[in-house]
Amino acid sequence: MNIPELRSDFFDLYGEVEKTPRIYFAPGRVNLIGEHTDYNGGFVLPCALQYGTYLLIRERADNILGFASTNFEFRTEYDFSGGFAAKQGQWTNYPMGVFDEFRKLNVRLKGFDMLFSGDIPNSAGLSSSASIEMVTAFALASMLNVTSLGMMDLIKLSKRAENDFVGLNCGIMDMFAVGMGSADHVIFLNCLTLEFRQVPFILNGYKLVIANTNKQRGLADSKYNERVAECKEAVDAIRPYFQLDHLGEMGFMQFFKIQDVIADERVRRRARHVISENQRVQNAVSSLLKGDILQFGALMNASHESLRDNYEVTGPELDTLVEEAWKIHGVIGARMTGAGFGGCTVNIVRDDVADKFILEAGKGYKEKTGLTASFYIGEVSAGPREINSETL
Ligand code: GLA
Repeated sequence: MNIPELRSDFFDLYGEVEKTPRIYFAPGRVNLIGEHTDYNGGFVLPCALQYGTYLLIRERADNILGFASTNFEFRTEYDFSGGFAAKQGQWTNYPMGVFDEFRKLNVRLKGFDMLFSGDIPNSAGLSSSASIEMVTAFALASMLNVTSLGMMDLIKLSKRAENDFVGLNCGIMDMFAVGMGSADHVIFLNCLTLEFRQVPFILNGYKLVIANTNKQRGLADSKYNERVAECKEAVDAIRPYFQLDHLGEMGFMQFFKIQDVIADERVRRRARHVISENQRVQNAVSSLLKGDILQFGALMNASHESLRDNYEVTGPELDTLVEEAWKIHGVIGARMTGAGFGGCTVNIVRDDVADKFILEAGKGYKEKTGLTASFYIGEVSAGPREINSETL
């Protein structure tokens, strides 16, 4: 990211070059395994990436928030004297939802001029939205000197912003992965208790390659909320026979024995995915701790199959990109990542076949779908931070 250029963009927008804005950064994330388990009180295994969102922010003397981004055309000035209201489909709902959460906590707000700039591809399932929320929350806590809010509070309030202000019933994984990111570690998180452990993720001889289908995720939000509702249906069907509030509380053997109490075959498959995926995350952590990366890759592949057949959130583009990856010797694991219905795949690829993978999987994907995939080498990175402008 070119910070001097961003600073000059900021001054073009807001003037007053003698008052330097502060600069904050929060990463995006990729989930390695444990998909659609977070809102079911299950396990996930994401990590923060080197890509993320930069926020240049400077205090103003009035009650106005200036929102601008180098990624979106839409910019606005918002007077928060009368509170906050979401505007259908605007990216500004993400930071504004965070401001509203600070307001609900009775934090005395101030006006700010802000410029956001992200190098995470938008709508690719790499949590550009959680990254925007977390960079806003982290910057606000710092600018307003709210020392009582620790990282866990910022994670929780960003999730509430997305659930209540933006209106997506997402789980906590994305904000957690962004907030608790640590270089060379994946985050093994129990989404029910929020207990977590940083597990070393050293890919000796392998690369983490992220492939973007570049398929627009149309309808993704409504389908996402539909899956959340189907999981609730599964819990209601199981509860008379087994005491639980979330599918993540049930082991796979228990589920296997009583699965027929879920009369609806589709709902039964949704539950089968969540409960088997939860087991796969735990097995994946054991494989990492043993240094068995091949086993880890096999679990990623099994995760994709279950998301395709049981949870039905993949679609032809993600399936094709994963199948093309599976064909290449030296790709030891490939699966969709994030909510699905488009977005990215995550792949563990042997160093010496990384170029071949990008070339051949890209070619096969283009032939079958007509779309051009983009590829990124993921580096497992740290969480939110202020960027000290003197060092630039
Ligand atoms: C999206 C949501 C997350 C999680 C994933 C699926 O990224 O924001 O909370 O549910 O989908 O695992």
